[in-house]
Amino acid sequence: RRDETAPPAVSGTSIASDPMTRTDLHDSIRAVLWQGDHLRLLDQRRLPFEETAIDCRSAAEVAAAITDLVVRGAPAIGIAAAWGVVLAARADPATLPAALEQLRAARPTAVNLMWALDRMKRAIAAGADAAALAVEAQAIQDEDLAANRRMGELGAAQLGPAPVGVLTHCNTGSLATAGFGTALGVIRAGYAAGRIDRVYAGETRPWLQGARLTMWELARDGIPATLIADSAAAHLMKSGAVQWVIVGADRIAANGDTANKIGTYQLAIAARHHGVRFMVVAPSSTVDMTAASGAAIEIELRAATELLGYGGQRTVVDGAQAWNPVFDVTPAELIDVIVTERGVIERPAQTGLALQFGPPA
Ligand code: MRU
Repeated sequence: RRDETAPPAVSGTSIASDPMTRTDLHDSIRAVLWQGDHLRLLDQRRLPFEETAIDCRSAAEVAAAITDLVVRGAPAIGIAAAWGVVLAARADPATLPAALEQLRAARPTAVNLMWALDRMKRAIAAGADAAALAVEAQAIQDEDLAANRRMGELGAAQLGPAPVGVLTHCNTGSLATAGFGTALGVIRAGYAAGRIDRVYAGETRPWLQGARLTMWELARDGIPATLIADSAAAHLMKSGAVQWVIVGADRIAANGDTANKIGTYQLAIAARHHGVRFMVVAPSSTVDMTAASGAAIEIELRAATELLGYGGQRTVVDGAQAWNPVFDVTPAELIDVIVTERGVIERPAQTGLALQFGPPA
C-alpha cells in the first residue's frame, strides 16, 4: 500500500493581514489529504529525509496507519479515522459497525479519535450516506484548521510583549493536525508577531517526533530552532533561555489534568521549579468531560522494542526488558494556561474546564 510519490504541497489561504493571523506564510504542510476515492497520508515515520505518502483504500488500512504512526498527533488521527469511516461507507455500508470498532481500537489515549468517530456515528444514525459522511469528515478537518488558527492568536497574545524563548515537546504542528498546529500554531503566530525569538525542541524519545518532525516544520518556516536532548530541559530552564513551555495534548480531563507525550509531566515539574510558565494548547475535540481527572485516562503502552534499539539497530543487550509508556499526565496545578479555540483558561486547577465546557459529564 506504499505510494512513493510525494503528496502535493497544499498552501494555506490568507485569512487576514494582521501578522498574528497571517498564517498563510507559515502553513504549507498537509499530513492528511482526501483524494476523492482514497486517503493519502504523509508517512511520518520516514520524515524528515523522505517525503513519501501512503494511500489508504479501506478503513482497515487507515486503522493500521494510525497504530503504526504513519499518521500521528491527536487531531490528525481523529481526522484520518473520520475518512476511514467514509472509505467503509463507500465500500459497503454493512461494514460500518466493524470499521468504527476497528478504528476506535487503533490507539487508546488521544480522545480526538473517539470524538471524531462518535461524530461520524451520529451522522450515520441520522441517515448519512457515503457522500454525506465525506462532507462530515471534511467539516471535521476544516474546523480543526480554523480552531488552530484561533488558538494561535489566543496563545500568542499570552506571550511577550518582549520576545521570549520557548520550549516545546513532541510534534504539535501541521503534521499532527489539519494544518498550522496547536502548540506549534501558537509558536508560529507568536514568532510572526515578534513575541518569540527562539524555539527549543526536545527530541522526544523514542520516536523522535521533536527531532524529526518539529525541527523539520520549524526549518521550513525559517523559525530559529534549537534541538535539545529531552534530558537537557531542566538545565535549559535554569539557564534562563526559556520563559514558556508550550505543549499540545492528547486528552484533557474535566479538572484540567492533561495527557500528552511522555516527558511532558517532567517538563511541567521542572518549569514550576524554575518559574517558567506552562501552556497547553488543544482544540475542544481533545477535551474529555467524561474523564473527571487524569486517573481516568488510559495511557498507551507500546512495544519494548521501540526502546531497545533505533533504526533497526539494537542498542541494548539481548534479554533486557523495557517499559514504554508513550504518554503521561500533567496535573492541572502545574499548568498555568490552557488554550482552546473557545478561549483561554488561566490557572485551570482552580476552575477545571467547566467555564468553557459546562459541568463534567
Ligand atoms: O504519539 P504521538 O506522536 O501521536 O503523540 C503526539 C502528542 O503527544 C502530541 O503532543 C499531541 O497529540 C498533540 S498534537 C497537536
